[in-house]
Amino acid sequence: MSNRISLTRYLVEQQRDHGHIPSQLRLLLEVVARACKSISQAVNKGALGGVLGSAGSENVQGEVQKKLDIIANEVLIEANEWGGHLAAMASEEMDGIYVVPNRYPQGEYLLLFDPLDGSSNIDVNVSIGTIFSVLKKPEGSSGVDEKDFLQPGSQQVAAGYCVYGPQTTLVLTVGDGVAMFTLDREQGSFVLTQENVRIPEDTKEFAINMSNMRHWDAPVKRYIDECLAGKDGPRGKDFNMRWIASMVADVHRILTRGGIFMYPWDKREPEKAGKLRLMYEANPMAMLVEQAGGAATNARQRILDLQPTKLHERVSVVLGSKNEVERVTAYHLQG
Ligand code: AHG
Ligand code: MN
Ligand code: MN
Repeated sequence: MSNRISLTRYLVEQQRDHGHIPSQLRLLLEVVARACKSISQAVNKGALGGVLGSAGSENVQGEVQKKLDIIANEVLIEANEWGGHLAAMASEEMDGIYVVPNRYPQGEYLLLFDPLDGSSNIDVNVSIGTIFSVLKKPEGSSGVDEKDFLQPGSQQVAAGYCVYGPQTTLVLTVGDGVAMFTLDREQGSFVLTQENVRIPEDTKEFAINMSNMRHWDAPVKRYIDECLAGKDGPRGKDFNMRWIASMVADVHRILTRGGIFMYPWDKREPEKAGKLRLMYEANPMAMLVEQAGGAATNARQRILDLQPTKLHERVSVVLGSKNEVERVTAYHLQG
């Protein structure tokens, strides 16, 4: 195919035609994509590369780190620290922010990532991924510190993920719709395979960890009970269920064919707002989903409007097909 559009060409043309990707941002996105290619290589090697299993350490959220969590984190940092496009990075796997070392020039962007999402799926050969969010350093601040990262998701200038599944697919938004790129392993490049991704407004598919049902809040239980009642219930149609336990893979399905994904607050740890993290899981996914015509809330408010108060803040997540997300949100606001 001679008319294949590489990620590089896509970004150059976006910049030329619409002027909304400054060259520093273009470089940043190319570097993130390159890092994702390396992570994809490591993931593919699996046991042959000695990358499976636990690293024997815990991250700041008290979760056991897998070897690949740490490898992916290092790949992203090493790829991004020297290019001059970033001021600092933040990651699920690092307690504090990582400021670009003095020996390199400092750029104006901030990069946040979940280096390896779906860690429980690594060793069982199920799809996993990398999620990233890009912010601009607030103007007028000379150095950089954690406070500079605490911007609502609506301020993101780009967001995306790379899913390492049967194919490696990079999904990206720079605030002008969502595009998907498939990794061509022979060429070593990401090739545009879908533009203007749209999530259908209605769906018959939900994703939630049903084993937590007894801990849910009443509005979540009501919504799922109504789905389970199928044709004979108030919804008048049968629903299907999928739960991959990698948010990246669940969101990828929703961007591809619709659906609703929920990881709501529950009574297991009532002091926590939810399981997923706002700044490097919920915000980038919310931006992608909204850019594809879907919706994303914390069951009450739009996720992208939330003002973060700390880097590793957790949040309740309801996202996907617009009409279903609005229904779940309405059930909460009524209750
Ligand atoms: P991570 O591997 O980055 O910690 O994230 C895992 C998240 C998310 O990807 C997934 O939807 C959810 O945790 C799965 O949780 P359960 O194991 O509770 O189903
Ligand atoms: Mn994750
Ligand atoms: Mn992770």
